[in-house]
Amino acid sequence: LDNGLARTPPMGWNDWNAFGCNVGEKLVEQTADKIVASGLRDAGYTYVNIDDCWMAGSRGADGQLVPDPAKFPHGIAGVARYVHGKGLKLGIYESAGTKTCAGYPGSLGHEQRDADSFAAWGVDYLKYDNCNNLGIPSRQRYQAMGDALARTRRPIVYSLCNWGEESVASWARPVGNLWRTTGDIDASYGRMLYIFHQNAKLADAAGPGAWNDPDMLEVGNGMTPVEDRTEFSLWAEMAAPLISGADLRSARPETLAVYGNKEVIAVDQDRLGRQGRPVSMKNGLDVLAKPLADGSVAVTLFNENTAPAVISTTARDIGLGPARGYALRDLWEHRTTESAGVISATVPGHGTVMYRVAPTATPGRYAPHLVLDTTAPG
Ligand code: GLA
Repeated sequence: LDNGLARTPPMGWNDWNAFGCNVGEKLVEQTADKIVASGLRDAGYTYVNIDDCWMAGSRGADGQLVPDPAKFPHGIAGVARYVHGKGLKLGIYESAGTKTCAGYPGSLGHEQRDADSFAAWGVDYLKYDNCNNLGIPSRQRYQAMGDALARTRRPIVYSLCNWGEESVASWARPVGNLWRTTGDIDASYGRMLYIFHQNAKLADAAGPGAWNDPDMLEVGNGMTPVEDRTEFSLWAEMAAPLISGADLRSARPETLAVYGNKEVIAVDQDRLGRQGRPVSMKNGLDVLAKPLADGSVAVTLFNENTAPAVISTTARDIGLGPARGYALRDLWEHRTTESAGVISATVPGHGTVMYRVAPTATPGRYAPHLVLDTTAPG
C-alpha cells in the first residue's frame, strides 16, 4: 500500500503467540520497557502490538468499541501514551467480521467508526483479522477498512490477516502494507517449515510498502536454538515482518541475541525491499538468494532434514557477475572468508547458514572459504 509506511518490513512484538487472551496494559508496558532496555528498540523493533481480547464484550451505548476496563484501566489511549513515551509505536487488532476470532465485537459495517477510534487513541498499526466474515469477499472487506483508515489521516500501518485465502498476495499490494500468507504459526519446526514453503513461493508480490507475512516469530517459544536461528534467518531472507511472539520480559540472553542480530536484521530491512527467492530446493536442501541495495546478495543455506548436510551454490547461481573473488560474510559467526565462486557449508539438521556475498576487487584479504572451495569456480 502506497501510504508512505512500512517501506521496509515492520518490526516489533505481538502478545498473541505467548499470551493468547491474557493481554493487558501491564504486559504491554513491561514489554515496551524491555524492548528499550534490551536494545531491541534501537535494533529496529518499533511496533508493540496488542492482539485479540483487548475489548469489552460488547460495544458501548454510543456504538463505539470499548477497551476491557480490567485489562486496560487507562484505555488504549493510555497505553499509547506510555508506548509513545518510550519512542515506540502501538498496534491494535480487529476483525473484518461480525466478531473477532475470540468473539469480541468485529468491525464489519463499523469500519469508519472504529478507524476513527483507533486514530483518536493514537494507534499506529492495525492487524485486521478474518473471522466471522459472513462469506463476503476479502478484498471488499479489507478495502473498506483501508479506506476508513486513510480517511483518518493518521499514519497507520495496515496488516491484513486473511490467512492467505482468496489468493491475497495477488491483490493485496494496493490494499495493505502486509498480508498473512497462511494460517497461524506455532512454535514447532514442522509448522514453521510449512509456512516457509508457502511464503517462499510469493516473492513476486513483495516490495517496499507491501510485504508477504508468514506470521510471527516463534524464536524463544520452544523450538531448538538451531531452529530459532533458522526461522529468524529465513524470515529475514524473505523480507518478512519481524514481529516477535515471545515473552520478551523473561527471554533468555540467547533468545534476545537472535532477535538482536544486526547483520541478519540488515538483510530483512534492506532498502531495495526484495524478497529472497529460491535458487534451488532439492531433497530438503534449500538455497535462497536476496539481492541487496549495495549490490551484494544475502544467501541462506537451509537444511530441512535431521542429519547434517553439505549445501552448495555459486556466486553465479545467486545472481552475481564475474569477479576475481567474493567475500562471504557469515551473518551468525560474524566472520568473513573468501571464495573464487563456490558458496558452501556443512549445515546441521534443521539449521541455516546465512552469508552476505559481495564481489571483491582485492582477493587475498580474507581466509579461504572452506576446503570444498578448491574444485569448482563459479
Ligand atoms: C487468528 C489470527 C491470529 C490471532 C487470533 C486471535 O487466528 O490469525 O494471529 O490474531 O486470530 O484470536
